[in-house]
Amino acid sequence: MEPILKVENLTKVFSRQGREDFTAVKGISFDLLPGECLAIIGESGSGKTTAVNMISRLVDVTSGKITLDGRDITHLRGKELHGVYRTMQMVFQTPTESFDPRRTLGDGIGESLRNAGVSRKKTRERVETLLEKCGLPREFADRYPHQVSGGQCQRAAIARALAIEPKLLICDEATSALDVTVQKEIIDLLKSLRARQGRNLSILFICHDISLVQQFADRVLVMYHGRIVEEGTPDDVICNPKNDYTRRLIDSIL
Ligand SMILES: Nc1ncnc2c1ncn2[C@@H]1O[C@H](COP(=O)(O)OP(=O)(O)OP(=O)(O)O)[C@@H](O)[C@H]1O
Ligand SMILES: [Mg+2]
Repeated sequence: MEPILKVENLTKVFSRQGREDFTAVKGISFDLLPGECLAIIGESGSGKTTAVNMISRLVDVTSGKITLDGRDITHLRGKELHGVYRTMQMVFQTPTESFDPRRTLGDGIGESLRNAGVSRKKTRERVETLLEKCGLPREFADRYPHQVSGGQCQRAAIARALAIEPKLLICDEATSALDVTVQKEIIDLLKSLRARQGRNLSILFICHDISLVQQFADRVLVMYHGRIVEEGTPDDVICNPKNDYTRRLIDSIL
C-alpha cells in the first residue's frame, strides 16, 4: 500500500539573530499509511510542532523531503499549496485560531467549499451536515466563534478541517486546551470519524496524554531533541519502552 504521507530525512534549522543556529528537527523519517492513526509524543521543545508545521507547509523545510499522496510538496508555496490543502487539513491547539472572529462558524467551515466553486445553498447544506456529524446543532452555523465554548469551537474546527474531505488530518494538541470530559468527547468524535472513513482518512496527531494515545493511535513515534528515538505500537512503546528516555517520559506523564 502506498503511504499517504512519506517524510524523509526532514530537518529544520532556525537561524537566530546574533546567536548560533538551532536545529529543532534533525533528519526525521517516517511513513503514514492510508487509514492509519499515528501519534507523536515527546517532551516540550523536542520538535513535534516544528515537524508537523513543516509537513503542513506552514514552516519552510531546511532539508529533506515530504511526499503527500504521491506528490513532492516539500518546496511548494503560495497558490501551489491550494491543492495540497484539499488533501491535508490541520486542527490546532487553540480552536479559535481556526476561525476569523468577525465571521460566523458557518462561513469558516464552508470557506473551502465556496473556494472550490460549490454554490452558497449547497455549501450551507454541507456545513449543517458537517456540524451534525461533529455533534453540534445545525444552527451553530450562524454563531460567531466567541458565542460558543472552547470544546464546541474545537468541534467546529474539526468540521472545518473535514469540509473538503481531506485524506490526512493533522492535529497538534487539539485537545490540550480543553477539560478532561471535553477531551474525551473530541477523541470519541475522531474515533467515530475514523470508523466511518476507514482507509480514506489518516490522522497524524501530537498529544501529551498517554491514555489518549493508547486508546486512539495505531503507532507512536517518540521525539527527543529533534530526533525520533523510538517507534512502535502504543502497547510496545508505553508498556515496554526500549529506550531510557522513553521510559522516563512515560513515567513522568503517567
Ligand atoms: N521560529 C523559531 N525560531 C527559533 N526557534 C524555534 C522557533 N520555533 C520553535 N523553535 C525552537 O525549536 C524547538 C522545538 O520547538 P517545538 O515547538 O517544535 O517543540 P514541541 O515539541 O512542539 O514542544 P511543546 O510540547 O511545548 O509544544 C524549541 O527549542 C523551540 O524553542
Ligand atoms: Mg508543540
